[in-house]
Amino acid sequence: MISHNKRIPVAVLGATGMVGQRFIEMLSRHPWFELAAVTGSERRAGQRYGEAVTWRLPSSAPPPAALELPLLPPDAEFDAPIVFSALPTDVATEIEPLLAARGHAVFSNASSYRMASDVPLMIPEINGDHAGLIARQRRERGWPGMLITNPNCSTIQIALALKPLADSFGVKRMQVTTLQAISGAGYPGVASYDILDNVVPYISQEEEKIERETQKILGRFEDEAITPAPIVASAQCTRVAVREGHLACVSVELGRDAQSADLIAAWRAFRAEPQERKLPTAPDPAIIVREEADRPQPLRDRDAGNGMAIVIGRVRPCALLGHKFIVLGHNTVRGAAGASLLNAELLVAQGIVG
Ligand SMILES: NC(=O)c1ccc[n+]([C@@H]2O[C@H](COP(=O)([O-])OP(=O)(O)OC[C@H]3O[C@@H](n4cnc5c(N)ncnc54)[C@H](OP(=O)(O)O)[C@@H]3O)[C@@H](O)[C@H]2O)c1
Repeated sequence: MISHNKRIPVAVLGATGMVGQRFIEMLSRHPWFELAAVTGSERRAGQRYGEAVTWRLPSSAPPPAALELPLLPPDAEFDAPIVFSALPTDVATEIEPLLAARGHAVFSNASSYRMASDVPLMIPEINGDHAGLIARQRRERGWPGMLITNPNCSTIQIALALKPLADSFGVKRMQVTTLQAISGAGYPGVASYDILDNVVPYISQEEEKIERETQKILGRFEDEAITPAPIVASAQCTRVAVREGHLACVSVELGRDAQSADLIAAWRAFRAEPQERKLPTAPDPAIIVREEADRPQPLRDRDAGNGMAIVIGRVRPCALLGHKFIVLGHNTVRGAAGASLLNAELLVAQGIVG
């Protein structure tokens, strides 16, 4: 474990939103990073963070260190070497390259650049080696800084669940149906009139993201490029009346014969670089398997590993693809702010940032 005598100043973009608030909360107890700047939309810029934000997390108020920070406008200049972006996609498309060009290491939650061929789409437990794209990115774009993305909030737990299976058995095909929380749509997200007593069977672009991003994340890094994993993937996404925690019902076809017990053993044995390096935000274990018939549940399991572990249950044979299971992840922690923090921690630990 490395130690820092002085914490690294960081900025949060879109700091008043659902993901932005998670960043502010998680940074308030971070041993390596110190919140130095926050940005918001033009309509709130100039206010103190404590005035501008309507705090929606279970903790009763924003952490004291954030309250007095001025909320800067979206294009503000500031000194923090590390930037965490919780901007809407259209804004991120404009602002994130500007910040990388100014020399910042930008860790983004937005989908704008996830599939760009020179941008790492990273989950440190899976593909920390994809950070090798950064050298090409900086050279070709002429950036003194860099841009690193984390996946869509449903993709993260699906890809994490598949990783030990891919390593041990190979994964050929995957079919997934998600039940996604309303916080995944930001605030106010889906109108209460539309989601209470209801399931909405469509989330724009989500199915495509799960299919493509999973292939890139599990892909191979070679010669400064990613070859996507040849997994045939098919996703259906629904929005359900849950506040936080996305469930995914997954069927998989593996590359060789295995029993449910073999899958469970592979998940339970899984340890990766963030756990070995004891990164501050890394859960240990990253994957929890529950054997009760009625788990995982968003209400009961989303905070496992401080919201950073994924929880798998209902592991059983599938008549179509061989195996099926249900996996849960906390969408604004493991699926967003925590994912960016872990990416930044890995690059600091590898000496690429900081
Ligand atoms: N929610 C999730 O579970 C989740 C998971 C993974 C990734 N993401 C991605 O993370 C990003 C943020 O999502 P979110 O759920 O936190 O959204 P959100 O709750 O709507 O928050 C968006 C933030 O961006 C600011 N903003 C809005 N318009 C802006 C503009 N024109 N210029 C500058 N700032 C602007 C908002 O400021 P105001 O408060 O002033 O409106 C707010 O701080 C999105 O790209 C989303 O796709 C979300």
